Amino acid sequence: MAPAIQAENLVKTFGDVRALDGVSLDVPEGTVLGLLGPNGAGKTTTVRVLTTLLRPDSGHAVVAGVDVLKHPNKVRSLIGLSGQYAAVDEYLTGRENLQMVGELYQMTVRDAKARARELLEWFNLTEAADRTAKTYSGGMRRRLDLAAALVVRPPVMFLDEPTTGLDPRNRLALWEVIETLVEQGTTLLLTTQYLEEADRLAHDIAVVDHGKVIARGTADQLKAQIGGERVEVVVHDRTLLGQAVEALAPYAKGDPAVEKNTRRITVPVSGGAKVLADVIRELDARSIEIDDIGLRRPTLDDVFLSLTGHATSAADAENGKGDGDGHTKRHGRDKHADGAPDADAAGADQQAVTAGKDV
Ligand SMILES: Nc1ncnc2c1ncn2[C@@H]1O[C@H](COP(=O)(O)OP(=O)(O)O)[C@@H](O)[C@H]1O
Ligand SMILES: [Mg+2]
Repeated sequence: MAPAIQAENLVKTFGDVRALDGVSLDVPEGTVLGLLGPNGAGKTTTVRVLTTLLRPDSGHAVVAGVDVLKHPNKVRSLIGLSGQYAAVDEYLTGRENLQMVGELYQMTVRDAKARARELLEWFNLTEAADRTAKTYSGGMRRRLDLAAALVVRPPVMFLDEPTTGLDPRNRLALWEVIETLVEQGTTLLLTTQYLEEADRLAHDIAVVDHGKVIARGTADQLKAQIGGERVEVVVHDRTLLGQAVEALAPYAKGDPAVEKNTRRITVPVSGGAKVLADVIRELDARSIEIDDIGLRRPTLDDVFLSLTGHATSAADAENGKGDGDGHTKRHGRDKHADGAPDADAAGADQQAVTAGKDV
């Protein structure tokens, strides 16, 4: 089957910054590609090129069978992009906003109403449906914005960090919406900093860093690629972390990751339960008290760490507790030079997409 999205060797520079350094990817029809990478990796730039908002310096892209550079208008009629259509009108209610999009796209009033009702429900906005959008919280607006992008059921959708800044409940609700869309045949390119999100939603994952795709495969393939198991130890006394790392060294098949705050050391090992028993004995012999120890299979987080030398640092305060994966914050890479927190940075990306719509 022809890919619904195909990019070949996209290069885009901004002054000295090589935002895209030869990105190639393809998304088979009806599947989800998760573009996973830290801040500044080139995710949004890729999306902007594929959605016709930005011309690459070189390279080639085809979306839904149409050449993005030659026929941008045609491409625009075939895609949905969160942030693009959703010029949410502050003075209309949530329901009116969605209905208006439907009618703009030539749906009958009846169909537009039904679609609005359905989307409001999907996005947990039914209760707020008849309030003007200007009374909505940031998270509600974001959901309305996404709902608006879905009114016309485009065959190919681009969602750029769709759940950044959402609380856990709404994140889960959005995941369900996305799964429903995909069941109905939508092809989706989704960018995310959340490993858990890519793990759950994406058929295929492309890991990007510094404008390049550095790994590609299913979550399981990527995990298998780095191989092995991990021993995780939480030592009781922080001052003994260094000694514990030394004690673990003979068993380690790679570099240990040390989290000072949580007093946790993670090392790749092979040999399973036997190694675990040996490690416990070793620590005991050195009188290093442990609070917790366990053996686990690699997570996507480990994959990321091993590929890039840093975690994705999907750090946005609001989501810390709901992420279910505290490890993502382990080795926070430096954020934007201006120090903007991630959630805001993602918001800025969204605006960039909206503002750039008639590029
Ligand atoms: N309009 C722009 N002008 C200058 N630099 C940009 C612009 N857009 C993106 N960049 C730079 O390109 C790189 C990739 O950015 P981006 O695609 O937004 O990354 P991501 O979405 O993965 O966080 C970053 O270094 C970013 O600062
Ligand atoms: Mg981005």
